[in-house]
Amino acid sequence: MQTVGVGLLGLGTVGSGVARLLLEHGDRIARRTGLRLELRRVVVRDVRKERGVVLPSRLLASDVSAVAQDPGVQVAVELWGGVGPARRAILELIDAGKDVVTANKALLAEHGPELFDRAHRAGRALAFEAAVAGGIPIISAISQGLAANQILSISGILNGTSNYILTAMAETGETYAAALRRAQELGYAESDPSLDVDGTDAAHKLAILAQLGFGCRVTTADIARQGIDRLDAADVRYAGELGYAIKLLATAKLCDGSVELRVAPTLVRHRSPLAEVRGAYNAVQVIGDAVGDTLFYGRGAGQMPTASAVVGDIIDTALGRAGITFRTLANWIEAQGTPRIQPSSEVHGRYYLRFLAEDRPGVLGQIARILGEHRISISSVIQHEAEEDHEGAPVPLVIMSHNAIEAATLGALCDIDRLGSVRPPSVCLRVEG
Ligand code: NAP
Ligand code: HSE
Repeated sequence: MQTVGVGLLGLGTVGSGVARLLLEHGDRIARRTGLRLELRRVVVRDVRKERGVVLPSRLLASDVSAVAQDPGVQVAVELWGGVGPARRAILELIDAGKDVVTANKALLAEHGPELFDRAHRAGRALAFEAAVAGGIPIISAISQGLAANQILSISGILNGTSNYILTAMAETGETYAAALRRAQELGYAESDPSLDVDGTDAAHKLAILAQLGFGCRVTTADIARQGIDRLDAADVRYAGELGYAIKLLATAKLCDGSVELRVAPTLVRHRSPLAEVRGAYNAVQVIGDAVGDTLFYGRGAGQMPTASAVVGDIIDTALGRAGITFRTLANWIEAQGTPRIQPSSEVHGRYYLRFLAEDRPGVLGQIARILGEHRISISSVIQHEAEEDHEGAPVPLVIMSHNAIEAATLGALCDIDRLGSVRPPSVCLRVEG
């Protein structure tokens, strides 16, 4: 049986899960793969800290050279998170001849080309299945299983923390702040949770998937993004009344030779597959020209689902499978170059619009007139009764549009917000489908 030495950088939420799988399920993994995965070193900031997993103290170190310089380590696993120190550590590990596995989407989204290039030149693997959608093997699905296809669209729920918060707000009426705290306690959130709720984490993941799917360089800066951090609980309720759930959707779509890229809270119809994705689960819908529609579903965050993907990568790397995939992809991305990103003047769809408007004669007419001037056709209108009982009290007015150009919709919103009878800012959310 082949023994593979593993060096671990990080023993937090995911690192502890990986250590547990290696220590507690090593025999099963060995029977299944023919590989004995041996945990040789673990690098943390504080070697004295108490951990959820018990390790012999001789394994713990506080400097990456303990892994880089250990000739018994073949595969190094970066689970520190963050960008600067993790980047330097991975470069040091590659230069020292180690294959590398990482779950660090922030790092790959920012420095992926440099790291892949360095690994490529050194003939080492850089595997990253756990970086997107936790336990769902979406990286290998897009880069291997669907390799025969022209990918037409990748769309899904890629941030477990946001989906956990939205589910709690919609189903139990929990406050945003309380649901976020709970997601942190459960180990779903990033160490800086603003990355989860402002859409950045989903954009990091979408940048990775779009590169794999479309074979072109996409950075996080190319992705129009909006998170759930400014979402009003009232919109979750009104969307529910209209038969929709609000989900943080990440979408990369080919449209007439350009790519539409966005992360945004989006209304999806109740009982549609994405509306049914609850808690920290993720789902990714991939459409290919040959395969048609596919849907991948599973736990997108948390200790053991992510550890499952990391250990799968260690096995693939040791068997030589991860290196081949990544070299093929590097060539593919090189060949396709930079995509044309679709500007907002060309993006179109249906929109949910909410205004806080004075309840007096003619106000609805003024709003409808401005929408008409921007060529936005109304599909439905709901006006709730005012809480204050006098003419002119502000009332929420929810309008669903037909298909419209996004730039025109935002222009109309600006004009409507200038009306004396409307309390800005009004809300505009995309409606899926
Ligand atoms: P975490 O709980 O904060 O753990 C980070 C670990 O890395 C800690 O053990 C910490 O040491 C160590 N560390 C960080 N910086 C270090 C440095 N400069 N030198 C030495 N040790 C350092 O993070 P996590 O949730 O496990 O996430 C790890 C990575 O997985 C991140 O890239 C994250 O984006 C990714 N990921 C996480 C999830 C999830 O559900 N949590 C899912 C998919 C991907 P101390 O313990 O001594 O402080
Ligand atoms: N913080 C991330 C999330 C972890 O909530 O989805 C998984 O990448």
